[in-house]
Amino acid sequence: MAIVQFPKDFIWGAATASYQVEGAYNEDGRGMSIWDTFSRTPGKVWNGDNGDVACDSYHRYEEDIAIMKDLGITEYRFSMAWPRIIPDGSGEINRKGLDFYHRFVDKLIENGITPICTLYHWDLPQALQDQGGWANRATIDAFVRYSEIVFKEFQGKIKSWITLNEPWCVSFLSNYLGIHAPGFTDLQLAVDVSHHLLVAHGRTVRKFRSLGLEGTIGYAPNVTWIEPYSPLEQDVQASRRATGWFTDWFFEPVFKGSYPEYLVKWFEDKGAVLHVEPGDLEDISQPIDFLGINYYTGNVGRYKEGEGLFDCEDIDMGYERTDIDWPIYSDGFYQVLTYLKNTYGEIPIFITENGACYNDEPADGRVRDEKRIAYLSKHLTQLNRAITAGVPVKGYFVWSLMDNFEWAEGYSKRFGIVHVDYRTLKRTKKDSFYWYQKVASNGWFTV
Ligand code: FCB
Repeated sequence: MAIVQFPKDFIWGAATASYQVEGAYNEDGRGMSIWDTFSRTPGKVWNGDNGDVACDSYHRYEEDIAIMKDLGITEYRFSMAWPRIIPDGSGEINRKGLDFYHRFVDKLIENGITPICTLYHWDLPQALQDQGGWANRATIDAFVRYSEIVFKEFQGKIKSWITLNEPWCVSFLSNYLGIHAPGFTDLQLAVDVSHHLLVAHGRTVRKFRSLGLEGTIGYAPNVTWIEPYSPLEQDVQASRRATGWFTDWFFEPVFKGSYPEYLVKWFEDKGAVLHVEPGDLEDISQPIDFLGINYYTGNVGRYKEGEGLFDCEDIDMGYERTDIDWPIYSDGFYQVLTYLKNTYGEIPIFITENGACYNDEPADGRVRDEKRIAYLSKHLTQLNRAITAGVPVKGYFVWSLMDNFEWAEGYSKRFGIVHVDYRTLKRTKKDSFYWYQKVASNGWFTV
């Protein structure tokens, strides 16, 4: 037996996102988002599921906060739904939307839980999508305005801000792979969107600084690690492209004010050109206070001509997979964290998401999700290894506090440490909840 011990001041938290948990999709003046539209489009979401009700956290937030308190976390990462606050994205402010988040944040604070707010976790107002969405630079201005409204409104209450969740998903998964809203399959569009997102991020950081408000700000890209199958140069380069699509493409502009040449050229060869306007890179590379990292999976990659976007094929190494079929590759968590530190410097890191999909159901009032515990234990062990190697990781937010609407997978994939019965909306704490509760209170666990 060994003890995995975290630093004394390490922060333990949990995460969710508005569209995935709130429900109340048409209450108190909320506008429609691209996920309302997408989930109503036949064939896009498993079983035709949608977020109309989700976990109903809009009404049940007091119960959810009591669960957080019992869990013993000191910080909670949630997101605000832009269409609750500005229903059409760029026009009138909806007071009732702001009031909801005040009630919610006040309750968190009353319970000693620090709110960390993500400004954009994918529920773009549909009215903005109707004008081109993130492909239209006007959406950048609308996002900065929305952020400014929220910054001012919640000053003194919310002191940690995340501009964007997973810009890779918002751009490539949603506009090139077509899997998430708005569901396009156009590489040029995806490259444009990725750049506009980064400009929106940078300008929002600039706005935050110019307001002189108390607090910190960062963003939360999702990363992976594709380990080369062999030391052959072509395997190394193929894996580098496949990893860099998530890392370098979204990090180099922010930390170095440039785009990775090897990917710019690669995209050009595929017919997609990066359009950068004067001043964009200066905006994007505004210094940030922390980096949020979302990590779930990785793999081993080998060069194969014509395979995927990057001539890189995934090799099945026989790694175990979670119930969403993602290989469990905890070593990749360590690899990518050390890579990021060595390449982009020693910025404080929060793991803003990490967790596993297992679909265990309650039996006799208990959910015995030991595979989730094993996943969390493995990943926290690798995280600890990264900290020991000098990566400045300050906190960890498990994804997710509770089962919720898992995007294109609807309600078929459960990531929560709390089970939600979608018929009754009853919450049941899983075994992993009690395991994490102990980790959060002790700051260590045994393996
Ligand atoms: C991430 C998303 C999050 C959740 C997890 C499983 O990509 O940020 O909302 O769906 O995956």
